Amino acid sequence: MTDASTDQKPRIRLTALSHGAGCACKLGPAELTQVLRHVPGIRDPRVLVDAATRDDAAVFRLTDSRAIVATVDFFTPIVDDARAWGAIAAANALSDVYAMGGTPLFALNLVGWPREKLPPELLGEVLGGAAEVTERAKCLVLGGHSIDSEEPLFGMVVIGEVHPDRMLTNAGACAGDRLVLTKPLGTGILSTALKRDALLESGMADAVRVMTTLNDTAARAALAVGVSAGTDVTGFGLLGHLGNILRASEVGAELVFDEVPFLAHARNLAARGVVPGGTKRNFEAAAGVEWDDDIAPADRLLLADAQTSGGLLLAVPPENEAALVEALRAAGTPAAAVIGRLTEGPAGSVRVVRRA
Ligand code: CO
Ligand code: CO
Repeated sequence: MTDASTDQKPRIRLTALSHGAGCACKLGPAELTQVLRHVPGIRDPRVLVDAATRDDAAVFRLTDSRAIVATVDFFTPIVDDARAWGAIAAANALSDVYAMGGTPLFALNLVGWPREKLPPELLGEVLGGAAEVTERAKCLVLGGHSIDSEEPLFGMVVIGEVHPDRMLTNAGACAGDRLVLTKPLGTGILSTALKRDALLESGMADAVRVMTTLNDTAARAALAVGVSAGTDVTGFGLLGHLGNILRASEVGAELVFDEVPFLAHARNLAARGVVPGGTKRNFEAAAGVEWDDDIAPADRLLLADAQTSGGLLLAVPPENEAALVEALRAAGTPAAAVIGRLTEGPAGSVRVVRRA
């Protein structure tokens, strides 16, 4: 990686061309609820999962033992390095297949490119970074679609497969289950800091490593041990994606703030007001959450931070908790943190305590 002082050519700052950061440029949960009312509901026995439960991907049954998992994800640059952006976007798109318990088969690239402002070689780097990740995932890239656009956009459609009886979904979690998170939070805040010059690209190294880590081994560990529900933590933040599990499973949750892992600098930056708009929208959507008094306002925002290529959030029966943590550690996931438990409810209710 180069910076302006050592490089002869003026360096192109990809994040300066993007209005938002990664999954933080998502439409807010409230806006989505509003528009999705206009999409007709589906009644077809082949459809195992659709948008109704706000799961990570659609699942379409072909036979009793085979189903297609399909998902699409794309966003604006979250880092300045083109290769890293491509790699992060690919890991993020693949994640929704893993989050359903599936195995990716092939992918299609989605590209929006400001051809007047950015050289095509840079797009080559984006695609190259993405290809490194899809190769690691043994997922073939078979095509794509590109348009000339004001802002750079990159992402993928990913098609995978899953056994219909071995899906990881939002529904199925029970009161008493423990909540386990497999990556630290804070990527939205860090990438916003990078964009606002409050953090050097070197300060993003940990975040980039975490965001390019595939959720494949985490999902495999979850399936091997046995969990009752699971999703990945992305644009709607921990509270938003937890909320989807709680509503689909009709339970409540108690989170322990001190057990939640964060990327270095994330708490300091949030305390200085470096918070993406998407995170603020997520926080507003989580207005019903009850907080212990001694949790600082900036710390509360962290639990709503819009993540890009975040980890899995798993609900595991208490008797499987130790085995899951051990399996995740053995798999080398960036975190294997028990961050709370599910309660009787009311469905969707969340309480955040300082420590257990
Ligand atoms: Co997801
Ligand atoms: Co997604």
